[in-house]
Amino acid sequence: MIFFSQSDGQVQRSEKEQEMHRSFRDRDIMLRMVSSSDADADRSLLLKAKCLFQKQLSKMPREYIFRQVFDDKHVNMLLVDRSSEVVGGICYRPFFEESFVEIVFLAVDYDYQVRGMGGFMMDLFKESAKLEMKSHAEGVGCSSKTVDDLNSFPERAAGRPFYIMTYADNFAIGYFMKQGFSTRIRFGCWIGFIKDYEGGTLVECRVYWEINYLRRREVVESMKEKLFRDMEKVNDCHVVHRIADYSDVKRICDIPGARDEECSTPQLQSGTALNRLISYLISDLKCNASAWPFLKPVSAEEVPDYHEHILQPMDLSMMSGKVERSEYSGIGEFIDDVRLMLSNCFRYNGKDTQYHKCAQIVQEHFGKKLAFYKHAIDRLAE
Ligand code: COA
Repeated sequence: MIFFSQSDGQVQRSEKEQEMHRSFRDRDIMLRMVSSSDADADRSLLLKAKCLFQKQLSKMPREYIFRQVFDDKHVNMLLVDRSSEVVGGICYRPFFEESFVEIVFLAVDYDYQVRGMGGFMMDLFKESAKLEMKSHAEGVGCSSKTVDDLNSFPERAAGRPFYIMTYADNFAIGYFMKQGFSTRIRFGCWIGFIKDYEGGTLVECRVYWEINYLRRREVVESMKEKLFRDMEKVNDCHVVHRIADYSDVKRICDIPGARDEECSTPQLQSGTALNRLISYLISDLKCNASAWPFLKPVSAEEVPDYHEHILQPMDLSMMSGKVERSEYSGIGEFIDDVRLMLSNCFRYNGKDTQYHKCAQIVQEHFGKKLAFYKHAIDRLAE
């Protein structure tokens, strides 16, 4: 997994996210952890949290909300503004031994909704839950009573996997989905600990220690970019085909770049299937981390005596060329080329060289692929 440091700035956060981070850095929004279990807890904050939840969750009995917020087993992660007004909050109960946290209530003040605060609050919650889980495992008390600096959350941490569980109001399920929650419950240890609520759907979210949730968009964007860069190396899906005149498009095969199944003759179709399978196997080989010595022909300039020893050179780019020119008339010819490429490598390079080791890895990988696609290969060979 790739992590960028904040200074890299290679991937921009969304505007909403940037705004939330800026508000936090400028202390326009601050985070406070408050629980009745703490004798020094700021009870006025608890009262304000209760009011926020009562306002935002108007269908819930007010008395019930009051009891939950002031329950000494519960903790309230609150976002407060400069005048100490609670503008967002999560009331939760940690079940440390069972490795999960139950969100009891979650709400953002009307004036702050749809501006990214709900998402930001959940990211903060995941990071602060990690800290709490870690502190508990190490036998220290809750370490996140007040957090004023987002950098105080460790970049990478490790610990026991844990989950966040909650009963989501049906109209808020979309929000929870966006925060990585799922209605497919895989975690089982909540049973007997969380009360069943009517009108809500149980959702769960697994918290990954390797991910800094406060920078999840950066991580996802950078991984997407890397994926697309890698895809460009092995196929043409990045090429945009333009249509000059749409009146020329009568059949699928008139669309530039479209694969035309319908227009081709039966003979061509079997040829296409063969080429597709070979193209796929070549792309797959190219993606293998150990395939780098086989991507291009061995250069006579870089390795002057190579062609004296290897009379029939072969590499993956040559194979791609043969596919493009439809030179393979059967899968066996392609398999022979891969074997030739690898045996050339074994012959020319000593056993202790990295090239030899790469060839061994690619050979093993290719063997597995052939076994996996045996049914398709057998059918083509018929
Ligand atoms: N349904 C579907 N998607 C929603 C949504 C909803 N009800 N509410 C927010 N989202 C999406 C947003 O479009 C946004 O998507 P994006 O990341 O692609 O831009 C993402 O969730 C985060 O939105 P954000 O602006 O950060 O959320 P918010 O500040 O408006 O807060 C709530 C969302 C649910 C916390 C807020 O609407 C609220 O307090 N509601 C009343 C209390 C409540 O229902 N709590 C949940 C009870 S279980």
